[in-house]
Formats: sequence, C-alpha cells, structure tokens
Amino acid sequence: MKVLMTGAMGQVAYELQRESQKHMLYAFSKDKLDITDVLQVNDVLEALKPDFVINTAAYTKVDKAEEESELAFAVNRDGAKNLSLACAKIGSTLLQLSTDYVFDGKKTNPYLETDAVNPLSIYGQSKWEGEEAIRQNLEKHFIIRVSGIFGVHGNNFVKTILKISRERPHLKIVNDQTTCPTPAKAIAEMIWKIIDKNSEDFGTYHYCSNPMTSWYEFAKNFVSNVTPIPTSEYPTPAKRPAYSALNCEKINKNFNIHQPNWKEGLKDVIRELSAS
Ligand SMILES: NC(=O)c1ccc[n+]([C@@H]2O[C@H](COP(=O)([O-])OP(=O)(O)OC[C@H]3O[C@@H](n4cnc5c(N)ncnc54)[C@H](OP(=O)(O)O)[C@@H]3O)[C@@H](O)[C@H]2O)c1
Repeated sequence: MKVLMTGAMGQVAYELQRESQKHMLYAFSKDKLDITDVLQVNDVLEALKPDFVINTAAYTKVDKAEEESELAFAVNRDGAKNLSLACAKIGSTLLQLSTDYVFDGKKTNPYLETDAVNPLSIYGQSKWEGEEAIRQNLEKHFIIRVSGIFGVHGNNFVKTILKISRERPHLKIVNDQTTCPTPAKAIAEMIWKIIDKNSEDFGTYHYCSNPMTSWYEFAKNFVSNVTPIPTSEYPTPAKRPAYSALNCEKINKNFNIHQPNWKEGLKDVIRELSAS
C-alpha cells in the first residue's frame, strides 16, 4: 500500500513512521507539503497517487486558536477540504484525525459517533468544519476522533507537566474534566490496522484509551507534587468539555481494534523519556 502522510513532524506522525515497516510511507512535513496550499496539495498528490492519505497535520494549539482563528480554520478546515478534493480526483482514501473537542461535554456517558456536536472552542469548531468538508467531498474517508494524545515526541500534557514539576515545588491541576488520555503509539497502531484491512467501512469512528480519568488523576501517575483544583481556578482562553470520553464500540466491531490502557502506554513513555 502506498501511503502519503502529512504533518510529519507531529507526535502521531512520529509514531506512524516508527511503526511503518510493512508500508511504503511517504512522510511530508509542513515545509514540503503545506495543506493550506491548494496547488501544492494537488501537485503532490497527483504526482504520487497514493492509495491512502493520512492527515495528521493540524493546528493543535487549543488556547492560541482563540486569537489565531483564521490560521486554525485555514489548516483544520480548509486543509482538510483541499486534501479531500485532491483525494477524490485520484481515487485515494483519506484518513483524517479529529478530536473529542467537537463535543460540549454535557453528556455523562461516552460519546457515540452519532451524537450531536457542539464545539466550545475555535479549535473544536475548526476541526468539526474540517470533518464536514471531508464528508461533503469524499466518500472514501475515515474520520477518527481521538483524545488527549501523549507520547515521547512533540508537545503534550505529560512532557509539559514533567518539565513544570521540575521547576516548581507544587502544581495545581484540574480535577473536573473527564478525559481519556491516549498514547500516540496506540493511535499509530490503530491507523495501520485500518489501512491493513483496506475495508470499505468508511465513515466516522471514535478511538481513545481507558479507563476515563481527570487530568489531575492522570498526572498523579507520574508526578507527586500535585494538588487538584476545579477548572474555575484555572481559566484558559479556550473552553474545554467537562466530559469527553468516547464510545469506541464501532471501531472495535468493524476493525477488531481494542481500547488501549493509558497506564501501560504512560509507563512506556516515561521509560523512554527517562532513557533519552
Ligand atoms: N494533541 C492532542 O491532544 C489531540 C487530541 C485530539 C485530537 N488531536 C488531533 O490528532 C491529530 C494529530 O495530533 P498531534 O498531537 O500529533 O499534532 P501535532 O503534534 O501538533 O502535529 C501537527 C503537525 O502539523 C503541522 N502543521 C501545521 N500546519 C500545517 C500545514 N498548514 N500543513 C502541513 N502541516 C502543518 C505542525 O507543524 P508546526 O508545528 O510547524 O506548525 C505539526 O508538525 C491532529 O489532527 C489533532 O487535531 C490531537
């Protein structure tokens, strides 16, 4: 299978490259393929004619997106649209990563793919509009909503908290946002399984780890100097859903893909970070 991947310097992209042995993977970083550049997207895809395109490229700075909304929409909505139109022209399948932040967090049990969205932030809205552009333009798509990615490469909650905990005697972390932090490595494995199966069960899927937890409970597993606080004591420019666990039964049924356990993924990441 010939696979083109965007956003090659990102954290999921890094793991996709480490797990790619069986595949012809063509990894493009932003300087080689800017997904907001419609001409470049068409030229690169036309020249390569991949079977699959994995779009890991995204504007992911959730708080900064509130002030840089134009850029967030250009990358997350228009970039996804450019890729979907180019894929439609050459018959490629597009695998797009999306986010639990398309939901408003008012549910109290895990979100289904069919649940109504109501993003609370520019980031969530831009990712949702990217999803919709793909659905309108390209039948052969997999839109996979994931949540709270952490890994050894790039920026994420685990690496940020480890760094801050070395600089400060005490940390305060929110305890009232229920989430499912998910290892980048598990996401990469899930993507390769979907590509391996080469099935036509196109559509929207949810994938995250278990058990659901709060950021505070999660952090307690790798730092000791933490105190729980409510979100109201840690105001951020972007609002986040208070509850964003995802129901992963559909991906399990169609692809036999199981939810990973974040505790195991976390141990691996901490081990690798300590060794480096
Ligand atoms: N991180 C999370 O916790 C999380 C949670 C749920 C869903 N997701 C979704 O999962 C996917 C992967 O996330 P990630 O954490 O691996 O992302 P990431 O580490 O932030 O990587 C995204 C990459 O995309 C690149 N990029 C930005 N604008 C681009 C453009 N116009 N053209 C091409 N590349 C561009 C970035 O480059 P620069 O850094 O140079 O701009 C970066 O290397 C994204 O779709 C994200 O929305 C992430």
